[in-house]
Amino acid sequence: MSTQLEVIPLAKPVIGEPEERAVLEVLRSGHLSLGPRVPAFEAAFVARVGAEHACAVSSGTTGLHLALRAVGLERGDEVVTSPFSFVATANAVVYEGATPVFADIDPRTLNVDPAAAAAAIGPRTRALLPVHIFGYPADMAALEDHGLPIVEDAAEALGAVYADGGAVGGRGHPAIFGFYANKQMTTGEGGMITLGDAARKERIDAERNQGRAPDMGWLDHDRLGFNYRLSDIACALGLAQLERLDDMLAARARVAGWYREALAGLELELPCADAGGAVRGWFVFVVQLPERLDRDATVVALRELGVQSKPYLPAIHLMSYYREAFGHRPGEFPVCERVAGASLALPFFPQMTEGQVARVAEALSGLLAA
Ligand SMILES: Cc1ncc(COP(=O)(O)O)c(C=O)c1O
Repeated sequence: MSTQLEVIPLAKPVIGEPEERAVLEVLRSGHLSLGPRVPAFEAAFVARVGAEHACAVSSGTTGLHLALRAVGLERGDEVVTSPFSFVATANAVVYEGATPVFADIDPRTLNVDPAAAAAAIGPRTRALLPVHIFGYPADMAALEDHGLPIVEDAAEALGAVYADGGAVGGRGHPAIFGFYANKQMTTGEGGMITLGDAARKERIDAERNQGRAPDMGWLDHDRLGFNYRLSDIACALGLAQLERLDDMLAARARVAGWYREALAGLELELPCADAGGAVRGWFVFVVQLPERLDRDATVVALRELGVQSKPYLPAIHLMSYYREAFGHRPGEFPVCERVAGASLALPFFPQMTEGQVARVAEALSGLLAA
């Protein structure tokens, strides 16, 4: 009799009885959208990250779009950002007819290199859009020195702490979080913008709701808007997830610790350790393979051993759309291109066991020794 190899998934949300109860309550209330859970979720999130305001939105992507509009992005502007991110970061700039201007990344943190960002700033730069990639905070103090508006892509960084000690999202700049099912907490799909400016919150609240000002009738719209709302069902799920966020973050950090021990000594580059006061909010566990190992073949070989993995992340500027629309070519951002070609996300989720981590490490160790 053949025994089936247990497949270790890449990610897995923690959903249980509290989430089921919270969602059922909303369903039974009949108030499925534009109801009381939206401000309740926003208030709980504000308390969590120490921000002044928050706006719940339908995704991290729509959050980026509204946050960029709120800092005044207009057609023809430029936004300096990282090419090593999920494509939504740059796409949100393009939605407004503006141009993402990429700057290469720091090889240790994999966040935008402040010196490269400084060199990319020009007369048309309207804003900086740093990404806290893989949950590791970008060097905000260096970026803030330019005095330009900043939008933080914190989609992967819930639970992270800036080098100077504050929780990511509490700095006053609009910061966006994402709640897709692989994130530190989930609402299925969803996002949150945290920010320090009340006028910007008012603008975002109106624009996420079809351009309807708070005191206007349903059919009266005084500006262009979108339907970027988050439903009460999703907000209820978010409230239940926030209750257990500390436990989930601690579990992720524990799994990361097991990985560090299990992979020590292997020919792999591991995620950088926390340094200088910055603390990672663990989202993914991404290793960089040695050049001699073909990354895509490694994904296939791991799959055959029952281990899911994924190239993570490809360089944005080398995606077909960005090559065609903006004329990008290989060689422009060498650090990003090298890292993007070697990075592999391993299975990583709070319920992962030490035994599963050992199985992943054994599989990788075998491939490295072959
Ligand atoms: C860095 C980064 N930015 C933006 C997003 C977009 O978030 P969403 O998928 O919620 O639209 C993601 C999500 O994967 C992300 O990782």
